[in-house]
Amino acid sequence: VVAARVRRGTESYSQALEAGIRRYDGYEVLSVIPDTLEKLGVLRHIHDSNDGSYDFWTDPVLNRKVDIMVAPELQEEFKQLLEKNGMAYKTKVNNVQSLINQERAANEKARLRNGNGKEGWDYYMRHNEIEEFIRSRPSTGDITVSVETIGTSYEGRNITAVKLSTSPTNSRGILIDANIHAREWITSATATWIINEFVTKPAQYGDLLDGVDYYIIPMVNPDGYEHCHTADRMWRKTRSVNAGSSCLGCDPNRNFPFQFGGEGTSSVPCSDIFKGDHALSESETKALSDYIVRLAGDENVDVRAYLTFHSYGQLWLLPWGYTAGTYPDDYEDQLSLGQAAIAALAGVHNTQYVTGSGADVLYGVGGASDDYGKFSGIKYSVTVEMRDDDEYGFVLPPDQIIPNAQEIMAALRVVAARVRDEA
Ligand code: ARG
Ligand code: ZN
Repeated sequence: VVAARVRRGTESYSQALEAGIRRYDGYEVLSVIPDTLEKLGVLRHIHDSNDGSYDFWTDPVLNRKVDIMVAPELQEEFKQLLEKNGMAYKTKVNNVQSLINQERAANEKARLRNGNGKEGWDYYMRHNEIEEFIRSRPSTGDITVSVETIGTSYEGRNITAVKLSTSPTNSRGILIDANIHAREWITSATATWIINEFVTKPAQYGDLLDGVDYYIIPMVNPDGYEHCHTADRMWRKTRSVNAGSSCLGCDPNRNFPFQFGGEGTSSVPCSDIFKGDHALSESETKALSDYIVRLAGDENVDVRAYLTFHSYGQLWLLPWGYTAGTYPDDYEDQLSLGQAAIAALAGVHNTQYVTGSGADVLYGVGGASDDYGKFSGIKYSVTVEMRDDDEYGFVLPPDQIIPNAQEIMAALRVVAARVRDEA
């Protein structure tokens, strides 16, 4: 009733919209580079004993920038601790809520400009808008669009795969998924942009589409994504109920049946890296896993690459990711493709990526989907950590959707060429 009486675009309107939304007023994001094992240990300790007060936007890695979101009441204590341990910090974000407000305002403005309910890439679409978009793309004489519901989320939302093909004789394929992690909004926006480009101008993308089919799941974790939009912008996990805990969800990227429960996972339901009760406990990971297994086992399909879209950090992460210093036999191929892909990517807007094994560049993670893809027989299996690397983190302004997607397309072109031409 109140909301109906306030004018759109006014402050009271946005306040009304925000009622019931978790706020991040005065939350800071601090960046620290642990350059000794001792300093790393200090951060690791906080990370591991964390009850949710500190939100590590990136995990502690030696000689790598670690971004930590800290609530106002903890800032003094935390900064003292950093100083006591000789760790300089930079304030990356001084008020997370204002970042969220800016993103929301830009999003709403672009959506209205675009005409509500129509797809667009100058704002972050809601799950229903993404669904509407992918389900209403017609096949044409140039490209065949096949939409399939591959599962249902915990709360009952569709998990949808789109197959794009320009020839009935294509067999080689590239699998792409996005938004396994709820707050990584740039990933689904990029995946839907790629679908739109292919569907609307296939002739322009012959170098990507000739001889290669695309299997794209733009939204793996719709419940978490919607929860970000309606309740908590920083939500990462699924939204399932955990027996014996009031904390919801598990980390879907710890829930796959390869090295389940290994490094970088937690058994505590309130943790952001909770692995889940058992492998594939989540309907979302089960849907993706079933799809991967089905494609990998289909003799008419030859999926050679799997790109799982995450953010942020500008990284092209190769197997194995479960522990440092272990590599598949064909690691040379993985690395040469990764290097070529990020070089092409940098050629578009000069965005710099780093490649290497997931566990070497970041940290070991058991139960992640990238390793599971490799384990399931997909030769090139990559976690792509998209923009950015220093300013906005997960709350990437929507005007970066298209530039991000353009450079990812350049990397994808390199992957497509390898997938098509390799023996
Ligand atoms: N940020 C991603 C996560 O925490 C990185 C995963 C990379 N993969 C790996 N197996 N290390 O899920
Ligand atoms: Zn992620």
